[in-house]
Amino acid sequence: MKTAVRYYTRSGNTQKLAEAVAAALSVEALDVNIPLSEKVDVLFLGCSYYAFDVDEAVKNFILENKDKIGKIVCFGTSAMMKSMKKPVGKVAQSVGVELAAEEFHCRGKFGALHKSRPDANDLKSAAQFAKTLVSQ
Ligand SMILES: Cc1cc2nc3c(=O)[nH]c(=O)nc-3n(C[C@H](O)[C@H](O)[C@H](O)COP(=O)(O)O)c2cc1C
Repeated sequence: MKTAVRYYTRSGNTQKLAEAVAAALSVEALDVNIPLSEKVDVLFLGCSYYAFDVDEAVKNFILENKDKIGKIVCFGTSAMMKSMKKPVGKVAQSVGVELAAEEFHCRGKFGALHKSRPDANDLKSAAQFAKTLVSQ
């Protein structure tokens, strides 16, 4: 199964998850400003909430790479919200790209909130999530 990892981050929280996921899959964690070079079965897409939405760069990545994405699996961090699937799914659905039901999400540091997150346990869980998903 061919996989790729892309992420968008502003303060590094989601990048940490992306690197753990990518290491588990033996691929590189790359920023969403780097397009997919070939078609993948599963794209692990990492992002976060900023004022209740994902950044435009995440939406543009899906739109511009739609023909190379078999299925999107979301992962991400946020301070309050619990899933990235709604905003990601809306864009994916608009261009006919499948979004997996499975997702990995955890708290991410935001000011004084969740100061140590994602922590070592989060990274371990994210890696395990990715490994389990591709072995199914
Ligand atoms: C400008 C801004 C707006 C945010 N808005 C939200 C929000 O609406 N809901 C939420 O749960 N977290 C919100 N957060 C918290 C981030 O989602 C959280 O810190 C996340 O881990 C950031 O990930 P990153 O370091 O990969 O950018 C916001 C953070 C910033 C900086």
